[in-house]
This record gives sequence, C-alpha cells and structure tokens, in this order.
Amino acid sequence: MKNASLPRHVAIIMDGNGRWAKQHKLQIALGHRRGVETLRAIIRESSDLGIEALSLYAFSTENWRRDPQEVEALMGLLLEFFTSEIDELDQNRVCIRILGDKDGMPERQRQALVQAEERTKENGGLKLNIAINYGGRAELVRAARLLAEQAARGEIAPEDINEETLSQALYTHGLPDVDLLIRTSGEMRLSNFLLYQCAYAEFEFPAVLWPDFDLNAYHEALDAFARRDRRFGGRKA
Ligand code: IPE
Ligand code: IPE
Ligand code: MG
Repeated sequence: MKNASLPRHVAIIMDGNGRWAKQHKLQIALGHRRGVETLRAIIRESSDLGIEALSLYAFSTENWRRDPQEVEALMGLLLEFFTSEIDELDQNRVCIRILGDKDGMPERQRQALVQAEERTKENGGLKLNIAINYGGRAELVRAARLLAEQAARGEIAPEDINEETLSQALYTHGLPDVDLLIRTSGEMRLSNFLLYQCAYAEFEFPAVLWPDFDLNAYHEALDAFARRDRRFGGRKA
C-alpha cells in the first residue's frame, strides 16, 4: 500500500466479543479474552505500518450497565493487558494515552493506566489511545467545563473559544482528526465514540466479529480507505 494513502489516525470500535463467545458456546469472558489477542495483533501491525495514531474503544461509559460479572472480567483483562504488554509496547516506542475518566476506574486499574501513560509518554512511535470509561458526550462536556473555568479565571475570553481551543480541551489534544473509523461485527453506529474527532472520518463496517478480525481484514479496511474520495466539503479540481 502506498504510504500517501495510509490513514494518519485509525479508530476502532472493537465489537462482537459477546456474539463470538455465544457462537462458540463459551463464556462471555472468553470472548473478551480472544478479543485481546486481536487487539495485540492490530497494535503491532499498526506500529509496523507506520500509522501515526490508533484509537481503540475498550470500555464505554455505558458499558457499566452490563452484568457485574462481565464488568469484572473486563476489568481483570484490562489489568492483565497492561501488566503483560507494557514492556513490549515500551520497547516498540509506543506512546500510550488513555481517553476517558481514569478517576472513575477501580484503584488498581487506575494506577496501571496512569503508570502506562507515565512510562511511555516520551516514546516517539505509534500513538496508541485506549478509550476506557470513555464517552464522546462526556468528553465534550468536560471540554466545555475546562474552557469555562479558564474563562472564569480570566485566562481566555469567550471569543477565544474556537475549533482549535475546543480540540485542545479534548482527551485527543494534539492528535490529527480520525481518518478511518472501523467498527467490527456489522453494527453501524458510533455508540458515543469520538463524536467530535470523526467529523470527516471515512467509515468501514466489516461484518466479522472482533475476535475474528485478522490482519487480512485490517488490510481490506485500509485498502478500502485508500480508494475513498475525500472532499471535506470542497470540490475536486
Ligand atoms: C465489544 O464486544 C467489547 C466491549 C464492549 C468491551 P461486545 O461485548 O459488545 O460484543 P457483542 O456486541 O455483545 O457481540
Ligand atoms: C461499543 O460497543 C463499546 C465498545 C466496543 C467498547 P457496545 O457493544 O457497547 O455498543 P452498543 O451497545 O452495541 O451500541
Ligand atoms: Mg457490542
């Protein structure tokens, strides 16, 4: 694939672990465990391809509504992932950023997230954003509040608030907009992911469930992106 047509920022809604487990007559937790295998492979491939930023939706603010047993399994996997992968990610110069409210996480998980960010913050490789306890609306509310606080302190005037300052107040500050959004499992919705950042994203909805999303499927999505005609409201010359 030509480098010029590679997306700078890929976002993925990793969906279908539950259905995968059901298909295989396994417990849901095992579906999520298989999902982590896919996640490892996709992170590695993105890093090898030289993609600048990869944002993965791991746990939404709405996912707390699930069965406590499932939430607990997900929290366990999260901790396991950060413990077992952090060395390799750091060696590969991956820079980890958490999108979402870390303070709303259980203490052990919160600490692991903070440590992962701290340890990899100077790394110049793939910018890996993991959305945990994340909601797009909550992110926008938080940004509005941060800007209002700055205005109340007299640091900025209301007329200083523009698209640039608003994006600087988001979890994704400093990152390019999402170029390609992939959601597996055939669902065609955003489920509150990166609402502001996806304004001009291209969308791909492969039918495959997340545990079955392999490198071929990833390349198909990237190839489809490369064939898209992006106009950003303008007209082609
Ligand atoms: C996505 O898989 C993983 C998380 C939400 C954490 P799901 O668990 O949503 O899988 P389905 O949609 O039930 O198949
Ligand atoms: C979105 O998937 C959240 C993650 C993949 C982490 P969901 O499975 O929670 O979304 P809905 O409920 O189908 O919209
Ligand atoms: Mg789902």
